[in-house]
Amino acid sequence: MSKHDGVSISVIKRLPRYYRFLGELKENGTVRISSKDLSAKMGFTASQIRQDLNCFGGFGQQGYGYNIESLYNEIGKILGVNSNRKAILIGAGNLGKAIARHMSFESRGFNLIGIFDKNEALSGQMLRGIPIRHIDGLYDFCRDNSPTVAVLCIPSSAAEVFAPQLVELGIKGFWNFSHYDISAHYPNVAVENVHLSDSLMTLSYHVSQLD
Ligand code: NAI
Repeated sequence: MSKHDGVSISVIKRLPRYYRFLGELKENGTVRISSKDLSAKMGFTASQIRQDLNCFGGFGQQGYGYNIESLYNEIGKILGVNSNRKAILIGAGNLGKAIARHMSFESRGFNLIGIFDKNEALSGQMLRGIPIRHIDGLYDFCRDNSPTVAVLCIPSSAAEVFAPQLVELGIKGFWNFSHYDISAHYPNVAVENVHLSDSLMTLSYHVSQLD
């Protein structure tokens, strides 16, 4: 059981946004902020902010507001940004390369230690200082290095093949860009699905409301 069991998933999903805004405020040298000012910046109501942060013991003080640095650090702890979890990425095609190059894994609690692809032409190429390995070496690599998170940038058919093997090898969390529904088959692993097309269609809906 985690100490945050019972906190609603919608609150958890808002935490990265709090973390990002507070990080920007901290960078700008702001020391404290009221829930009202935070609300004006973030577009959540002040009462929503107080309710959200109360779920974690309430970091604010009446009449003072929130100390940005300590709130930022507390939310960072909840999100596990210092966890340094070992991660691997499978599929070094267009998407996998973009993610490997541009995502700041370290500042979000992950250490990308291995990149795999079945395309032999890619083997040995370097991506953010990490050599792309042939997928045949996946089993030995996982056994020797014990990664706990996998980023899947492969087609759905390949994800279907790898998911059971990866779970067997100790992977506990998937950042899943494939369209294979991992959580339906492995309810005990953490899965974060990313479907950019869903976001695009949501945009389409909102734009159509303006027509
Ligand atoms: P891509 O064709 O450029 O790259 C796919 C890579 O996966 C290739 O390098 C290929 O060799 C490798 N691969 C395929 N089967 C493999 C296996 N069994 N073992 C190891 N490596 C394997 O394709 P792209 O654009 O990078 O997209 C990758 C996947 O992600 C596609 O299936 C696509 O549908 C999906 N996708 C998902 C998005 C999302 O928002 N969730 C957005 C864009 C793509």
